[in-house]
Amino acid sequence: MSIASLKSNKIPATLIPGDGIGPEIVDAVIQVLEALGAPFDWDLQQGGMAGIASGGDPLPQATLDSIRRNKLALKGPLTTPVGGGFRSVNVRLREEFQLYANLRPAHTLVPGGRFDNIDLILVRENLEGLYVAFEHYIPIGDDPHAVAISSGVNTRDGARRIVRYAFEHAIKLGRKKVTLVHKANVLKALTGVFLETGKQVAKEYEGRIECDDRIVDACAMQLVLNPWQFDVIVTTNLFGDILSDLIAGLVGGLGAAPGANIGEKAAIFEAVHGSAPDIAGKGLANPTALLLAAGLMLDHVGLTDHARHLRNAIDAVLNQEKVRTGDLGGTASTSDFAKAVAQRVSSGV
Ligand code: NAI
Ligand code: MG
Repeated sequence: MSIASLKSNKIPATLIPGDGIGPEIVDAVIQVLEALGAPFDWDLQQGGMAGIASGGDPLPQATLDSIRRNKLALKGPLTTPVGGGFRSVNVRLREEFQLYANLRPAHTLVPGGRFDNIDLILVRENLEGLYVAFEHYIPIGDDPHAVAISSGVNTRDGARRIVRYAFEHAIKLGRKKVTLVHKANVLKALTGVFLETGKQVAKEYEGRIECDDRIVDACAMQLVLNPWQFDVIVTTNLFGDILSDLIAGLVGGLGAAPGANIGEKAAIFEAVHGSAPDIAGKGLANPTALLLAAGLMLDHVGLTDHARHLRNAIDAVLNQEKVRTGDLGGTASTSDFAKAVAQRVSSGV
């Protein structure tokens, strides 16, 4: 913690604008957080293409040091360059800080869409499974890619940690049920260990939180037919990646889906979406997902009143003032929307 932030009672946090629409939506979020009086002392750092431009690394040492010091970061999306031997920056960050829990809530923001009253939380294991990407090819004849092999890794400890996190989070938020999602009928070892361990953990919470389980493909169908039967879903890395985009679709798309990456050494908050190169620099991006991620960050540091106030302001701007960006059917620009939310939070409504 810097002396300046100690003196000012501010909470030091790393800020990474990121690539594509990142700088636009980060500007929007900072404007709103300032209007809200959120006491963050931002340490601006580079990542992604900006990191490559300044020092050849999409994840510069100074950025890692800043996150290690502050244990708290808000980041815009980072582009992972295709080719050139760069590993996904997001996967590197998760590994570096052992951010084992990826929290992805989905809440209906604009009523009247295909699904109303959605209120789901997806907890995704963030460090294991097929996402470890232990991959190689076996060449046959003159085809270097004749056979592709990928190994997934799930550990009992990892399963216990993430399922416990899901149950504790459910209790903290007063939720009723946790659903374990797996494919233990086919991947009997890889996802069997997750299911078996998950059921053991569930026993510790018997009488407090209900628990059931689903096979991932059936779960995908049920999420579309009757999403209201679910409350908190906990699942392995790849299934969580896929299902979290599905549940983002239930509430109007990626522009509304926030995410938190939580570990013992740090917590990093971001939108689920990427750098959206197709709309970057045009003022079209919806900053709501990153605003909601900032809300999760406020909750994380215990500023739950600020978080509630922020969510109420977003709701009022979307549904009373009907200021909406293009992805939600409106005509507002990124900065129009930010201005409206900033005005709402500073007017105290
Ligand atoms: P994307 O999420 O950037 O875009 C998918 C579609 O959603 C596009 O049509 C885009 O215009 C739209 N979209 C995304 N965010 C939006 C917003 N806030 N408002 C309105 N529309 C929005 O996914 P894509 O194109 O597959 O990935 C682009 C880059 O982002 C890649 O380099 C990828 O590696 C990176 N990425 C980074 C992530 C992160 O930093 N956490 C997560 C996902 C992708
Ligand atoms: Mg994804």
